[in-house]
Amino acid sequence: MGTYSDIKYGDGDDELLPQPAALRAKPPPWNRKLHVLAGFVVGILTCLSVLHFYHSSSTCNIVQVLSPTGSVELYASPWAGSSEVHHFPPPSPTNANPKLFPTDVGFAGHTATGAEPALVVTAPSYPIHTGAPGLVAPSFDDDDDGDDDDDDDFDLFRHWGNLSPWYTIERGTFGVDAKPDEPDTCSITGVHLLHRHGARYPTSFANYGGPANIAGRLHENAAEWTAEGELKFLNTWTYKLGEELLTPFGRQQMYDLGVSTRLKYGFLLRNFSEKNTIPVFRTESQDRMLASAINFALGFFGHSLEGQYQQSITIEEIGFNNTLASYMTCPNFFFPDKGGRATWYVERWADIYLADALDRLALQLHGYDLTTEDLYAMQEMCAYETVAIGYSAFCGLFTEEEWRGFNYALDLFFWYTAAWGSPLARVLGIGYVQELVARLTHEPIATHNSSTNATLADNPTTFPLHDALYVDATHEVIVLNVLTALNLTNFAATGPLPYDHIPRDRAFKSAQLAPFGTNVHFQLLSCGDRTGTQIRVIVNDGVVPLTSVRGCPEDEDGLCPVETFVDAMRELIQTTDWQWGCWGDWSVPGGDGWNTTDGYPPAPV
Ligand SMILES: *[C@@H]1O[C@H](CO)[C@@H](O)[C@H](O)[C@H]1NC(C)=O
Ligand SMILES: *[C@@H]1O[C@H](CO)[C@@H](O)[C@H](O)[C@H]1NC(C)=O
Ligand SMILES: *[C@@H]1O[C@H](CO)[C@@H](O)[C@H](O)[C@H]1NC(C)=O
Ligand SMILES: *[C@@H]1O[C@H](CO)[C@@H](O)[C@H](O)[C@H]1NC(C)=O
Ligand SMILES: *[C@@H]1O[C@H](CO)[C@@H](O)[C@H](O)[C@H]1NC(C)=O
Ligand SMILES: *[C@@H]1O[C@H](CO)[C@@H](O)[C@H](O)[C@H]1NC(C)=O
Repeated sequence: MGTYSDIKYGDGDDELLPQPAALRAKPPPWNRKLHVLAGFVVGILTCLSVLHFYHSSSTCNIVQVLSPTGSVELYASPWAGSSEVHHFPPPSPTNANPKLFPTDVGFAGHTATGAEPALVVTAPSYPIHTGAPGLVAPSFDDDDDGDDDDDDDFDLFRHWGNLSPWYTIERGTFGVDAKPDEPDTCSITGVHLLHRHGARYPTSFANYGGPANIAGRLHENAAEWTAEGELKFLNTWTYKLGEELLTPFGRQQMYDLGVSTRLKYGFLLRNFSEKNTIPVFRTESQDRMLASAINFALGFFGHSLEGQYQQSITIEEIGFNNTLASYMTCPNFFFPDKGGRATWYVERWADIYLADALDRLALQLHGYDLTTEDLYAMQEMCAYETVAIGYSAFCGLFTEEEWRGFNYALDLFFWYTAAWGSPLARVLGIGYVQELVARLTHEPIATHNSSTNATLADNPTTFPLHDALYVDATHEVIVLNVLTALNLTNFAATGPLPYDHIPRDRAFKSAQLAPFGTNVHFQLLSCGDRTGTQIRVIVNDGVVPLTSVRGCPEDEDGLCPVETFVDAMRELIQTTDWQWGCWGDWSVPGGDGWNTTDGYPPAPV
């Protein structure tokens, strides 16, 4: 269930934790807490010198070494022998001869361009994104037992929480019965797009479950067990997943998102032509983040990208101010007693919703003691294998109800780790809100007192403030942090999520808010029947109510005057104390002994 990227240490040094200047500056309470943390990281350090967020047990990564012949050997990993890795491209292909394959040979034929598409303006309806072209899922029989769960069109791909491929949210779902395209009396004048990367391999670490962990356990004990019945495929199954990287399907998601953004909002490029400028899109240095951004750009601009836009690649690493990876400068984020309650909830819920599955599947695996955590990891395996290699035999092992349970487990995890139920969500999202306000008001950020980066944000070339289109790529946790910091509390209206049942009316669903490719449009509109520029927030094609933002009216299209919106955001910025959240010496009781529904830590006493 690892969701945050890991943190790397320097090689073989004697410092236990990374000590970039930004973190060294402030000795207590960080130093004091260090010792608490130290105990539980030691196991990991002896393995690979990698500290993972919230980690409580050690897992070594696979070590890949290129032999002189170029073939791949695998060393010393608990699951090494059972895993398959293929390295492409070969390091020095014998037929590579760039001279014989020039990239520009002339003779391009006619190259007259046409008008920019403006689908949100010109089409009678809005395109539906169904989510998972090219992936195969097993079919599910309708459980048809007469309860609320009956669902003739059960769609497995929408029951994987943050591992779901993004899909169009049905009109009205979030509480505004409006379409995401241009309302009759309005014209769209600008869009700020914040989106997540496409589908990826599992993160390199998991605090509960984890596909690599179950693969390792199965392999370690391979001589002792045999599987039959539904689990028979395990006898010959191998682990085929890498770590962290964008998958081919993830690449398609980003390309498609780029194409659909051009189709909907291509007309906004006129703004740049008129000013004689090109757009600046932002992403982070992490491999999948950069790959996501480039694939988005290829979809949006088409080949060749050269001269069409500028890609800002911000550094995602400890100590670097970066609103799109804000946890990297927030020490409190790394302490389990600050934000680590999520796993506590997930474990308890898994014991409930997977109880029947454990009874059922344990009978088909002889010589291995199947646990609830193994089953949870198998559900994750289904999602990960499907988005990486197109199909997974694990998917068919579970019932619709167990998939609903898995989906809810991820709701629990993200609610308590990155959204309204996490004490750090708001501080981690506020940097992006400051940037949004700067862009909306065309005024630079006044004070850099959160995760914002003055070097980049104070320079109008790297952080323009007068554009009609902005595109930022980030992680699902940041998207949730931002929605929390924006005070969109309608998603929190149904209260903290319990671990003993699924509240049917819950407003917070990770598959809807934080799937692979999740995308948030901040639309700016000028309307004949409303005064002043308007803004609205659209998440995965679903219009979000802004009624919780102070001063915003009940509006049938979900609109709020930008001026009102900005006033509320300024108030939120003023009252969101990064210093206290990220450096303050607060803690919260473990388990369900404490709750927040506005994503903020307890106040100083
Ligand atoms: C701001 O970003 C730049 C460019 O990525 C980086 O070199 C610099 O270290 C960052 N500043 C801080 C304080 O993190
Ligand atoms: C980085 O963030 C810290 C904490 O908010 C701030 O004090 C510092 O000025 C920032 N540095 C830059 C270059 O933005
Ligand atoms: C481009 O869009 C920005 C943001 O909406 C606006 O401030 C600016 O006036 C526009 N420029 C032109 C030339 O249309
Ligand atoms: C926090 O919320 C959970 C879920 O609703 C609930 O079970 C628990 O009792 C709450 N804790 C407190 C201290 O209110
Ligand atoms: C934030 O939301 C709460 C409702 O949940 C509301 O009472 C408060 O006024 C809002 N604050 C701002 C600044 O929008
Ligand atoms: C951060 O700076 C802004 C001014 O840009 C100010 O309104 C806010 O109170 C500051 N926040 C904190 C926690 O110091």
